Amino acid sequence: MNLDGKRILLTGASGGIGEALAHALASHGATLLLHGRKSAALEALRQQLPNPERHHCLCADLCHPQERRQLVNAPVLADGVDILINNAGTNQFAWLEDQTEEQITAQIELNTLAPILLTRALLPKLRTPGLIMNIGSSFGAIGYAGYSAYCASKFAMRGFSEALGRELEGSGIKVLHFAPRATRTHLNSPDVYAMNVALGTQTDSPDEVAEWAVASLEREQIRTWIGWPEKLFVRLNALLPGLVDRALAKQHSIISRFAHPLAHKEGSQ
Ligand SMILES: NC(=O)c1ccc[n+]([C@@H]2O[C@H](COP(=O)([O-])OP(=O)(O)OC[C@H]3O[C@@H](n4cnc5c(N)ncnc54)[C@H](OP(=O)(O)O)[C@@H]3O)[C@@H](O)[C@H]2O)c1
Repeated sequence: MNLDGKRILLTGASGGIGEALAHALASHGATLLLHGRKSAALEALRQQLPNPERHHCLCADLCHPQERRQLVNAPVLADGVDILINNAGTNQFAWLEDQTEEQITAQIELNTLAPILLTRALLPKLRTPGLIMNIGSSFGAIGYAGYSAYCASKFAMRGFSEALGRELEGSGIKVLHFAPRATRTHLNSPDVYAMNVALGTQTDSPDEVAEWAVASLEREQIRTWIGWPEKLFVRLNALLPGLVDRALAKQHSIISRFAHPLAHKEGSQ
């Protein structure tokens, strides 16, 4: 799809990938409906974009039904949108036993339930031809220690994207699943960055990810996996999960040191 002149609702526009994506989309001539929870941050972003007068800011906590409804019914959405990008997300890197009920709930609510409900509510406002892009993760295809709840939420989004895409066959609306690997944003805690260095895991910049997401939108690519060797691991995990079990078992002690640090302190006494 040519993005010039398209109206795009981008959730999580105030985050690392969201902000980079907003810049990339605006530079391709799109009109943006920038979503986040903090109006000052959104307004500052809007002012930095080319043709700021064309773009709009929409504040809502997507985990609150009432705020989600207000977002869907915002006057600026009355004319519909060409593209919905479900990008807002959160994660918690820790052994499951160390995660609180609230942290687990927040990941499932924001990463899975909110985009599904938002998508359903916005379907009548999606113009055709239209696109829905769900921002997944390589952890939506590879179960990774320390990310059990996050993986659950992103595996679910991959299934949702695939099923909805097949459901909407012939409707003029396509559903794209775009899955970055580790990206340098505030989503990841200092422990995650330290672990990635210890494991030699590559991380991408938000600008690179935004560029690839724009290319996926332009090509209307249904499935996009970012990064090497992550792309290979995604395929291997689907075909030969036992092989990936064994490869990741070798990383277990390093992951555990960062995801479950208290156990290591106790163990060292
Ligand atoms: N960074 C990575 O390593 C990585 C890798 C693969 C996939 N991803 C995925 O990429 C997407 C963007 O991640 P990111 O790295 O850009 O994260 P980020 O920098 O932490 O930004 C998260 C965004 O989500 C918004 N948000 C958080 N809680 C919300 C809520 N309850 N209601 C509405 N909005 C909320 C934040 O808004 P506020 O500014 O109001 O907090 C912010 O705009 C996520 O879906 C993530 O899972 C990230």
